[in-house]
Amino acid sequence: MNSPTPPKRVVLGVSASIAAYKAADLASRLVKSGVEVFPILTADAARFVQPATFRALTHHPCPIDIFEEPYPGEIAHIWLARNCDLFAIVPASMNVIARLANGLAEDMLTAAAMACTAPILLAPGMNTGMWNNPATQANLTKLRDYGYYFIEPTSGRLACRTEGVGRMADVETIFNAIHEMLARQDSWRGVKVLVTAGPTREPLDPVRYLSNRSSGKMGYALAEAARLRGADVTLISGPTAIAPPGGIKFVRVETAAEMRDAVLPYAASADIVFAAAAVADYRPSEIAAQKIKKSPGGSALALSPNDDILALLGTQKRPGQVLVGFAAETENLLVSARRKRDSKRLDWIVANDVTAEGAGFDVDTNIVTVLGKDGEEISLPLRTKREVAEQILEIVRPTQAHSSMSNLGR
Ligand code: CTP
Repeated sequence: MNSPTPPKRVVLGVSASIAAYKAADLASRLVKSGVEVFPILTADAARFVQPATFRALTHHPCPIDIFEEPYPGEIAHIWLARNCDLFAIVPASMNVIARLANGLAEDMLTAAAMACTAPILLAPGMNTGMWNNPATQANLTKLRDYGYYFIEPTSGRLACRTEGVGRMADVETIFNAIHEMLARQDSWRGVKVLVTAGPTREPLDPVRYLSNRSSGKMGYALAEAARLRGADVTLISGPTAIAPPGGIKFVRVETAAEMRDAVLPYAASADIVFAAAAVADYRPSEIAAQKIKKSPGGSALALSPNDDILALLGTQKRPGQVLVGFAAETENLLVSARRKRDSKRLDWIVANDVTAEGAGFDVDTNIVTVLGKDGEEISLPLRTKREVAEQILEIVRPTQAHSSMSNLGR
């Protein structure tokens, strides 16, 4: 007999905004819907609402100070950070947003949030001027880049008797968003995902190599989005400057040959492969043992072709396996992408024009068209690479995975 699934665990952080009283209603609704809620207040939030309210509603302690020890034998902020499926901050004040954006972990709420690797959802609530303040807007941009999720505030009458943006979203909207995110965490459970990412480096001599401008961001975003859906993810990456997401198997390689050797053992059992790496098509035919000296008359470089890893996977593809390739182009985008899709026997290819503003290498955004083997052609407008990754997962998902289309702002 299957054991019952344990309840989902949500840390509910409450910071100092007049909307703090609504967090009590949210806590109550979440508990009634079967979610285990662990509340944390900031000291100033406790001037608006009482910890006793949250203790009574959730049947859990409601710490404020970083040095409180409400969980015997545990360092509370680490325990909370590690033991939740989702961390929600409702409302998120200007001050808490600023502290999270700048790494100031000075109370239980910010310390736990910054130690947390589960998704973090913020529902900002504040006065219009504070919301529009450039410092807040810069902090929000930072937090979006760091991967925080947001439920945008709405326009309306504020407690300060003004009208404008800054009113925290309705409790109902926040409740639904939390459940949607929790459901999404299981939507790819049991699905084996293999992602290649980044450039490869093909050595020429002990100090030089041939490479390209791939940052790895698109592949890492796909790996992370798949992990957030509960997939079993392996990321095989060439050299990049970005940290791999937590909770996945990570394999670092340098050359195209190393990438091929790392990919093949995982590819056999993968349900879906995202080949986002910009693999070098050629390598220097000879690797000089010593640094090559300049020759006044110039020099020619002999190159040998590398194996096409994705084409190889196309020839070994097992029934039901989904292969997704990427085509970075500077001209004839769709024609080239269709040709690559068909010649490599891909189910999908994600095409992007790397010359377009906001797309391609080393930027945080992308503009892509996803082309399927059955003639589907879906254009995704300019979005962050994380958003593009989430949409790609929705389009190409293998049969074992469930849809989890989200409208959450990020
Ligand atoms: N790819 C691969 N192994 C290679 C080369 C490419 O797996 N040796 C994969 C990439 O990860 C990507 C897709 O194939 O998913 C890119 O196709 P490709 O035809 O190689 O693109 P380009 O190298 O850009 O080709 P071209 O230079 O002809 O545009």
